[in-house]
Amino acid sequence: MAKPKRRYVCQACGSVSNRWQGQCPDCAEWNTLAEEAPQTVFSTKHDLSSGGRPIEFTPLDAPGEVPKRQLSGIAEFDRALGGGLVPGSAILMGGDPGIGKSTLLLQVAANIANQGGLAVYVSGEEASGQVRLRAERLGLSKAPIQLAAATSVRDILTTLGRMDTPRLLVIDSIQTMHSDTIEGAPGTVSQVRGCAFELIRYAKENDVTLVLVGHVTKDGNIAGPRVLEHMVDVVMSFEGERSHQYRILRSLKNRFGPVDEIGVFAMEGDGLAEVGNPSMLFLSGRDEAMAGSSVFPAMEGTRPVLVEIQALIVRLQSGATPRRAVVGWDNGRMAMLLAVLEARCGLNFSSAEVYLNVAGGYRLSDPAADIAVAAALVSALGDKPLPRDAVWFGEVSLAGEIRPVAHSSIRQRESAKLGFTRAYGPASAQESKAGGDKASATMKFSPLSLLPNLV
Ligand code: TYD
Ligand code: MG
Repeated sequence: MAKPKRRYVCQACGSVSNRWQGQCPDCAEWNTLAEEAPQTVFSTKHDLSSGGRPIEFTPLDAPGEVPKRQLSGIAEFDRALGGGLVPGSAILMGGDPGIGKSTLLLQVAANIANQGGLAVYVSGEEASGQVRLRAERLGLSKAPIQLAAATSVRDILTTLGRMDTPRLLVIDSIQTMHSDTIEGAPGTVSQVRGCAFELIRYAKENDVTLVLVGHVTKDGNIAGPRVLEHMVDVVMSFEGERSHQYRILRSLKNRFGPVDEIGVFAMEGDGLAEVGNPSMLFLSGRDEAMAGSSVFPAMEGTRPVLVEIQALIVRLQSGATPRRAVVGWDNGRMAMLLAVLEARCGLNFSSAEVYLNVAGGYRLSDPAADIAVAAALVSALGDKPLPRDAVWFGEVSLAGEIRPVAHSSIRQRESAKLGFTRAYGPASAQESKAGGDKASATMKFSPLSLLPNLV
C-alpha cells in the first residue's frame, strides 16, 4: 500500500498543501498550516450500474413543504433572523469573547422552553453549574431547559436520539466539540468541519433549529475554516464594545431572509434587554435641534453606522483670510464642496470661517457623505436646523448634481430602524421599492441647487 501523503491544512481558510510552508498560499496568513491526518480517498470513478437510489423531484409549489418559522419571543433576535427560527436550519453565531453570545442564547433557549418547546443547551466551555449560575442571575432558573456540559458529538447525538426531538439545540461552542471518527484535536479545521457536519445533518433530518456558537479571530472572522460559513444557513455576528452597554446582532448571511436586519440589545445586570427603538443611542446629545448638524448613514465595510456631522460658520467683519478646519473628513473635499455650493447654489462662504467636525472621533472616507456635509454647511450658514428625522447621503459632482451611491437600501433601512423616517438622497425608484415598507421614504432631490429650499 502506498504511504499516505502528508497533508498540511491552513487553520484559517482550510486550504490544503502537501508540504509545510510559513505562509498559506491561498489566504496569505502566516503560521497557519498544521499537519493533519491523511484524507480518506474515495474511488473517483462512478459506476452507473452500482446501487445509487433515484432521487425525487418536486415542483416548487409542492404543498406542505414550506418550513414554518417559529418565534423565539425575543423580538430583536427574531428580527435579526428575518422573522424567527426556521426548523431544520443551522445558525452560526460569531462574536468576540465576552460579548454576550452565551447569555443571549440562554435567554432564547429559556424563552422557547417557557413556550413549551424542548430546548437543549450543550455547553462545551462551561460546567453545568456555571451555566446554572448565569441562569440564576438572569432570573431564568425556572425555565425547563435541558442543560448539559459535553464535548463529544457522538455522545450528544446518541443522547438526542433517545429523547424527544428538541425544537432548539444550542452548541456553545463548535470549536470545543470533538468527534472520535475524525483525527485531530478539538478546534482544528477537520474537527470543526466534521462536528458541524454531523450536527447539521442531525438538525436537517429532525427539523431541529441548530445554533452553533463560533469563536472569532482577532480580525473578526469566525475561527476555523471559512467552509463553516458555507455549511450553515444563517451566519450571525454579535457585535459591540465590551466596555459599552449596547450590542448589535447582525445577520451576515441568511438563506431565509434579508441580511440587512439588525437586532439591538443592551447588556444589563440581569442579562440582555431588547432595545426596541435605538435611535437615540448612537446620536445621544441630539435632544435639541441644532443648526449645522446633519446625520449621515455611513458604511463601515458592509456595516451601516449613523454619524453626526457638525458645521460651524463664523462671519468675519475684517478682511482677514478666513480659516477652514476639518476634523474627520477630507480637507480638499470640503474646499470642493464649498466651491460647488457657491457656484451652483449662490451661497457665499468667502468671508466666513468654516469648521467641520465628525462627531465621536469618527473618520469618514465615504464620498456619499457629500450631501450630509453640504446640508450641515447650508444649515449652519442660514442658522436653521435641519429636519430632525432626516438622514442625508449622496455624492455631489462639480456640476452640482447628486449622484447615486452604493448600499442605498441598506443605509435607508438602517436609518429607518434607528428612527429616521426621511432620507434625502439620490436613490432610484427601484431601490426605494426594494427597501419595501421598512425603508424610509427617500426624498429625491437633484440638482444640489434645491438644497437651500430644504433647510
Ligand atoms: P457571555 O455571554 O459569557 O459572553 P460570550 O459567550 O460571548 O463569551 O457574556 C459575558 C459578559 O456579559 C460578561 O463580561 C459579563 C456580562 N454580563 C452582564 O453584564 N450581565 C449579565 O446578566 C450576564 C449574564 C453577563
Ligand atoms: Mg460563551
